[in-house]
Amino acid sequence: MSEILLRTGQLGFAYPARSTSLFGKPVMRDVIKSVDLAVPRGAVLGLVGESGSGKTTLGRLLVRLLEPTSGGIQFDGVEISHLPEAALRPLRARIQMIFQDPQSSLNPRLPLAVTLTRQLEVYGRLKGRRDRRDRAAALLDLVGLPTAFVDRYPHELSGGQRQRAGIARALALQPDFIVADEIVSGLDVSTQAHILMLLKELRTKLGLTVVFISHDLSVVRVLCDEVAILRGGEVVEHGQVGRIFSQPQHAYTRQLLAAIPLPDVEPGWLDDPPSRQHPHQQGSAA
Ligand SMILES: Nc1ncnc2c1ncn2[C@@H]1O[C@H](COP(=O)(O)OP(=O)(O)OP(=O)(O)O)[C@@H](O)[C@H]1O
Ligand SMILES: [Mg+2]
Repeated sequence: MSEILLRTGQLGFAYPARSTSLFGKPVMRDVIKSVDLAVPRGAVLGLVGESGSGKTTLGRLLVRLLEPTSGGIQFDGVEISHLPEAALRPLRARIQMIFQDPQSSLNPRLPLAVTLTRQLEVYGRLKGRRDRRDRAAALLDLVGLPTAFVDRYPHELSGGQRQRAGIARALALQPDFIVADEIVSGLDVSTQAHILMLLKELRTKLGLTVVFISHDLSVVRVLCDEVAILRGGEVVEHGQVGRIFSQPQHAYTRQLLAAIPLPDVEPGWLDDPPSRQHPHQQGSAA
């Protein structure tokens, strides 16, 4: 078993630009350029870069929601870059993406019991109605939400609770690889901390390998083992979190570190019990 769960080689992706050439052939615009990344099994890799640097596009490539226009992606030793959907299907159960806006993955017209177990149903892993409720309840419990929420609709949840439900949905098929795209952006700071703590806990408990996309270096610092810095579709620097923060090699990384005001936190602050961090939030499922 290789230590690397996911590897990209010279990975590239281009979108058709709006204008076409003289002969009507679409002009392509490179958005991801020759990216070589290796994500160790069980690691959390932070993917950082300014808006438009290609983080979401790269994330969608890694989970094969997009097909690369050049280069390759190997997941657990299997080349998946151009695998047809039927061949991807068994791997899709192992690979999940969580988005910034859980609204997009939670159907507003369905109770959580249905949404959380939809993928289990698709993969034929449900044994009837009773099983649906039990499995949904177990998933809610896993992410720290009350099991009674099986009957709730997304609009009956707070933003933080919705993000927990989004995480629960992504975990239904027991994936081993997760791409989380800006999943705490838009939440208030204390809710962010609770979600990050949950992620940290789940990653250990379930042995997840995670690519954590964020523009917030302070968040990446406490959650991630490694960081890759993306600029204009290229990875300009990749290394252990401690090294990147203490000895950034690339001028752009130094610029990012200088530009983003880092709160004065110790790397272990997420390990503290929530009661010490946010006394007023104790025990709440933020
Ligand atoms: N569907 C699309 N068609 C054409 N171009 C696109 C499409 N999606 C993204 N792009 C372009 O690709 C580039 C990278 O976009 P991407 O969304 O990956 O960046 P990002 O780093 O995730 O940004 P943000 O931090 O704002 O989420 C941008 O220049 C964007 O305009
Ligand atoms: Mg994005």
